[in-house]
Amino acid sequence: MTISGQDWLTVIPTAGAIGLVVYLAVSKFQSCSSSKDTIVNRSIKKDVEKVVDSFDIEDLGDSTAFCRCWRSKKFPYCDGSHNSHNKETGDNVGPLCLSKKSGSS
Ligand code: FES
Repeated sequence: MTISGQDWLTVIPTAGAIGLVVYLAVSKFQSCSSSKDTIVNRSIKKDVEKVVDSFDIEDLGDSTAFCRCWRSKKFPYCDGSHNSHNKETGDNVGPLCLSKKSGSS
C-alpha cells in the first residue's frame, strides 16, 4: 500500500495540528509547574531543606505575632510586611497572634 500525494495533504495538516496541541499543552504545564508564583518562601533560609522554627511557650512573653506571609525581615516574627504584600498582590494574609490569658502566670 502506498500513500498518495492526496493522502499526504490530509495527513500532514492533521499531524501538525495534533503536534501543536500537544506542544502547547506541555508548554503550559511546564510553565505552571515551575512558575516562581507558586513558591511561597522567596528568601528565608533558602540554604536549608525545610524551614522549621521551635519555641518554648514560656519564652514567648505576653504576646507574639508570627509571620504567615513569608515576607517579614524578622521571620518567623511578623514585622508588618504582610500589609505591602497584600496591597501589591490582592492577598489577605496576616500574622498568627498568640497572647497569654490575663491573670495566667
Ligand atoms: S509580616 Fe508576614 S504576616 Fe506579618
